Amino acid sequence: MKKSCFLALLLFLFGLKASAQTSSAVIEKKIEVLLKKMTLKEKIGQMNQLSADDMETNFKVIQQGMAGSVLSITNPEIANKAQRLAVEQTRLGIPLIFGRDVIHGFKTIFPIPLGQAASFNPGLVEKAARVAAVEASETGIRWTFAPMIDIARDPRWGRIAESCGEDPYLTSIMGIAMVNGFQGKNLSDPSSIAGCAKHFAGYGAAEGGRDYNTTAITERQFRNVYLVPFEQVVKKANLATIMTAFNANDGIPSSGNEFLLKEVLRKEWNFRGFVVSDWASINEMVDHGFSSDNKEAAEKAINAGVDMEMVSGTYVEYAESLWKEKKIAIETINDAVRNILRIKYSLGLFENPYVKGNTKEVFYKEEHLKIAEKLAEESIVLLKNEGQILPLQKPKTIAVFGPLANAPHDQMGTWVFDGDKDHTVTPLFALKEKYGENITIIYEPILKYSRDQDSTGFDKARKIAKEADVVLLFLGEESILSGEAHSLSDLNFQGLQSKLLETLQKTKTPLVTIIMAGRPLTIEKEVTQSNAVLYAWHPGTMGGPAIINLLFGIVNPSGKLPITFPKNVGQIPMYYGHLKTGRPANGSELNLNNIPIEASQTSLGNKSYYLDSGNEPLFPFGFGLSYTNFEYREIALSKTILKKDDILEITLSLKNTGNYQGTEIVQLYARDLAASVALPIRELKAFQRIDLKAGEEKRVMFKLPISDLAFYGMDMKKKVEAGKFDLWIGSNSISGEKVSFEVK
Ligand code: BGC
Repeated sequence: MKKSCFLALLLFLFGLKASAQTSSAVIEKKIEVLLKKMTLKEKIGQMNQLSADDMETNFKVIQQGMAGSVLSITNPEIANKAQRLAVEQTRLGIPLIFGRDVIHGFKTIFPIPLGQAASFNPGLVEKAARVAAVEASETGIRWTFAPMIDIARDPRWGRIAESCGEDPYLTSIMGIAMVNGFQGKNLSDPSSIAGCAKHFAGYGAAEGGRDYNTTAITERQFRNVYLVPFEQVVKKANLATIMTAFNANDGIPSSGNEFLLKEVLRKEWNFRGFVVSDWASINEMVDHGFSSDNKEAAEKAINAGVDMEMVSGTYVEYAESLWKEKKIAIETINDAVRNILRIKYSLGLFENPYVKGNTKEVFYKEEHLKIAEKLAEESIVLLKNEGQILPLQKPKTIAVFGPLANAPHDQMGTWVFDGDKDHTVTPLFALKEKYGENITIIYEPILKYSRDQDSTGFDKARKIAKEADVVLLFLGEESILSGEAHSLSDLNFQGLQSKLLETLQKTKTPLVTIIMAGRPLTIEKEVTQSNAVLYAWHPGTMGGPAIINLLFGIVNPSGKLPITFPKNVGQIPMYYGHLKTGRPANGSELNLNNIPIEASQTSLGNKSYYLDSGNEPLFPFGFGLSYTNFEYREIALSKTILKKDDILEITLSLKNTGNYQGTEIVQLYARDLAASVALPIRELKAFQRIDLKAGEEKRVMFKLPISDLAFYGMDMKKKVEAGKFDLWIGSNSISGEKVSFEVK
């Protein structure tokens, strides 16, 4: 670059930074001016969020200045009416902020977040979140309650669908991408919506995977695992808001957890946005047995640092008397209001409070659907492909069965309030549309929905399958079986789905099973019985064409599992980044059926594993096949002895040795061999998507700052500890060549 260009760039960047600082300084001034004019009641009003259930009552509350936000208005006229009351009929005219759960799309529905994470493509995930923001903001929504970045390691938990899976690093990368997409380049752009990272914190660790259940996370686990994505989105994505969680950790409900909200979030991370409670999670502190009544709950939540209360109304009812009784300080209230106003100013709500809401053209736009299709393609994971049965080679007759082949509602997945099933393109529809003229397609659902127990159609299925060249069987879960409050204790296929699969397998016609689900299901037997398996999660509006493109090889699968698939529920919790134990199994242990009769108590070796199912998962984190093969060669380190502020360069050669163009997600894992506390056996530290033509070879380089190996050790301070490290580069969490280095 020429010197003059470089100088111009520097000046430009400096200018940008300076103008950002000025605008934030201007906002701070405005906040203080406004705050001085506000009465205590008006301040408490800002801290209150109403639900849109009863708008007639809400209108009155808003007019009295007793609401700062309403959630779930999706009609722009109603939004404008409410806003007019706030802006034009209250003393200070402070605008409302309208929130909504826009989780994986507003109208155009993208794959569930767990599916999005399987793409390992943050750029595309960001684009999807941008589309969601553009569509949602059109109705006046300027705040979404997403992303959910709870680390989720238990597939019984229905909300695993809404998570990015088990890994703190992958979840951080996806969380940042989603926040950037929602919030856009500038929050004040009318198409930007404030993000809300949730649920702070530890909600995904519910005991037994039962939603809302208690958690028991230690401070070190919080800091090394559960809080990592939250810290990252606060520090790297300029996150606007955070939502407290429902769970009580070690007996302390999140909405009353001063340590998390004050010490960590505000003091350590310097979070400048506002904190909202989850739905009624403040008065639920009474149900937890943490507060004797709603008044005490309000006191604890305000003092803990929950700035805005979602729907339970205890602040409006009790905050003033709590202040009079000196149980809460005016500065605490002032800080909460400052945080809320800061986001309202940043969103430009004071200048542009109303929504035009005159156009539906942005919904389901062609370019939105294209992003949805691409993301669905990249999220789907090929789990098995026996004898390279896929991609399909010009079949003449295809038999299509199963409850998910043509399920426009269920295909969208959980948390879809606004997407319209009439816009969903199902696999059956896409298959007929793309190949209907040249291929005979025979469709019979046989089971009408995933829990269906009616086997009447099985004979018919058998007959049709026998005549076909290939069977496409679409199994899975209805969307209602995952998501909030929808936990399961049995993760086998519901209804007669397994029986149907078995019936079809017996016909010997090649069987491709496509699974749409909100979580990992326990599918060991069904994988064995199928010739090929595609795991499609709930893939959203454009899931149909995406699946068909993969089946026919128009697109080569590249998705990788963001979560470990256990063989059975008894193995849960099962995640790749576990600690080793003092007696790790080495895989050569005897299983239940091989134990000699009357074997002596210690003859099995006393190792840490299940006698009946070992300790290998069905599929490990990071796993996913392609129609081609990739060979990893010449892995080399720039140095093997490093200092704590060094950057380690890792190079390798990646070759596509198969016949199809493909994308490999190259994963880098590290392990600290001995430290002041025991650490996970592997941790994902980086990944790259590498596109290769058939036969092509590329050099790949990772730059790993040694500081990325820092963790909270014995003294609960984050740092790198000197010692030996192993590192793997490979295609999933249990593969890869090991190389070693030392940090001095
Ligand atoms: C959920 C949140 C959601 C909120 C508002 C709660 O029940 O836990 O994730 O954002 O409702 O709908």
